[in-house]
Amino acid sequence: MGRVSEKVILVTGGARGMGAAHARLLVAEGAKVVITDILDNEGATFAAELGPSAMYVHQDVAQPEEWCQAIAAVESKFGALHGLVNNAGIASMAPIELFPLEQWEKTLAVNLTGVFLGMQTALPAMRRAGGGSIVNISSVEGLRGSAGLHAYVASKFGVRGITKSAALEAAASGVRINSIHPGFINTRMTENIDLSSFPIPLGRPAEPQEVSQAVLFLLSDESSYFTGSEIVVDGGLTIGVPQKCQAVENIF
Ligand SMILES: NC(=O)c1ccc[n+]([C@@H]2O[C@H](COP(=O)([O-])OP(=O)(O)OC[C@H]3O[C@@H](n4cnc5c(N)ncnc54)[C@H](O)[C@@H]3O)[C@@H](O)[C@H]2O)c1
Repeated sequence: MGRVSEKVILVTGGARGMGAAHARLLVAEGAKVVITDILDNEGATFAAELGPSAMYVHQDVAQPEEWCQAIAAVESKFGALHGLVNNAGIASMAPIELFPLEQWEKTLAVNLTGVFLGMQTALPAMRRAGGGSIVNISSVEGLRGSAGLHAYVASKFGVRGITKSAALEAAASGVRINSIHPGFINTRMTENIDLSSFPIPLGRPAEPQEVSQAVLFLLSDESSYFTGSEIVVDGGLTIGVPQKCQAVENIF
């Protein structure tokens, strides 16, 4: 028996990166997984590689009608929806005075409105299934500021907040909603970022699979008393600056 056996789970932005790692682990742990993305070739190829427990569906998470189509496809193929990973996301960087309005609006549409639409559309399906678990992928940038990442930071703080307001409402119908806050993870999103400017106490970035472990836990019944909570997977990045400590007497 896998840790999410017989659960049906939708992973957005699952064609590559962390979403793909989550989908792979969930299938290995017994779930039926529907991967959605706008990268149709990569998504379809990856779902075929995972086998009959996986299916790919095209979906732009910022489009309400594409959410209805995706949830309908999940229920039609696998009969129910028990889990949702709101993982799709984009990032861009510029000084605030030069930040293009179009980039601001696009980032909020994908990263925040996409999560809002996902919860809005998935909740009725999860109630039909008798309960469920939603995992919203925020970021360490949903816990602190980061120069240049204005739209991304705003969207990820928003994801953290709406996770809690939605969790309050969904609890009565047996749906748990939590957020995950990854730090520096090796994916396409971070390939052009200078790692040396990140003082990571554990001394290295993470591989996507290390975040998948937290996703798996929140989707499994092992996390039955978690809702509205935040799991930070950042190698200590947000706890402070790593430094060696010398013994000094009477410093105060
Ligand atoms: N990589 C990191 O260090 C890091 C850290 C914290 C949080 N995150 C978050 O983790 C999530 C996954 O990011 P990743 O690092 O795997 O990046 P990635 O770029 O490899 O994957 C993002 C996926 O989202 C898809 N996507 C983009 N726009 C979409 C849309 N409109 N509709 C549907 N799918 C869309 C992309 O096609 C891609 O497959 C994102 O929400 C990101 O913000 C990443």
